[in-house]
Amino acid sequence: MTEYAVVGSGYMGGGIAQVLALSGANVVLADVSAEIAESNLERLLREAGDFERDGLMRDGAVEFLRPRLRAAASIEEAVADADFIEEAVPEKIELKGATLARISAAARPDALIGSNTSTISITELAGHVTNPERFLGIHFSNPAPFIPGVELIAHPTTTEQAIATAETIVRATGKQTARIGDRTGFVLNRLQYALFSEANQLVEEGVASAEDIDTVVRTTFGFRLPFFGPFAIADMAGLDVYRFCYESMQTDFPERFATPPRLDALVEQGRFGTKSGGGYFDNTEDGAQELVAYRNKAYVAMQRLLDELGPAPLGPPAA
Ligand SMILES: NC(=O)c1ccc[n+]([C@@H]2O[C@H](COP(=O)([O-])OP(=O)(O)OC[C@H]3O[C@@H](n4cnc5c(N)ncnc54)[C@H](O)[C@@H]3O)[C@@H](O)[C@H]2O)c1
Repeated sequence: MTEYAVVGSGYMGGGIAQVLALSGANVVLADVSAEIAESNLERLLREAGDFERDGLMRDGAVEFLRPRLRAAASIEEAVADADFIEEAVPEKIELKGATLARISAAARPDALIGSNTSTISITELAGHVTNPERFLGIHFSNPAPFIPGVELIAHPTTTEQAIATAETIVRATGKQTARIGDRTGFVLNRLQYALFSEANQLVEEGVASAEDIDTVVRTTFGFRLPFFGPFAIADMAGLDVYRFCYESMQTDFPERFATPPRLDALVEQGRFGTKSGGGYFDNTEDGAQELVAYRNKAYVAMQRLLDELGPAPLGPPAA
């Protein structure tokens, strides 16, 4: 039987424990004390009950989880027999370092160890782990039970085997993984914060209100993002078109919107995207038609879903 441990059973650790246990593993929770781990376990089961009742978790989820989730008296007890341990204590570097040192001292030498850090260097954290080649960032997103993407961040001595094992474990939960290098912000936060910074700048420049910016993001390019990432979107728009747009943006923002060298190179090679047989992705003519048909179907399905859900119950915009 597969044995996992989650250290730090708060918001993220709790959700991660739920998804790991729903994949069929036994999951032991550890926290600052046995009492907190126990009360977090009860909270997790209660929340899972609400999710099941609302149709957000499969029927029978709570009864499936109950025998698979257990609270430990200490970190050492939780990790002793674990094949895989995920650390999810608060985002403070000293605390993470000390916790990882305790985890790796008490775990089996071959146990895989992941950290859910959003921002701290994995290479730096690896300095606190014995046998650091079995350590990597395994970054779930909030809310962990429902967001499908997980970043896997290797440091320079993480082994291929450790990354592959992490992929197997995470994919068994039904989630999708991406391999990421250890640079500040990884991919998710670097992109998310770039967008957020630019959005704030637009407000400060008086170009649009926060409310109107949110509307534009949700209803235009954000509408595409569940289906396509920036490279697929650029291919479909046309890389030659993107290059013209960059040149135009450079009239006001010459450095911030400098044309990416790879985009320039692709356009020079005549690779304009979907319409020319490929850009960042290769495609045939039939493939292009199939892609357009998928895209149209996806956007109509997305609009139906939004109509069904109605607008998000946000409060009024702050003054
Ligand atoms: N909240 C988010 O949106 C989000 C998203 C992605 C990643 N993360 C990352 O996940 C990690 C956890 O964040 P969170 O939001 O779940 O925090 P949280 O405060 O909800 O949970 C942290 C848990 O760790 C426990 N803890 C504190 N010190 C401990 C110790 N010494 N030993 C064992 N347990 C200890 C706390 O009691 C608590 O239960 C952080 O690294 C955070 O950056 C958070």
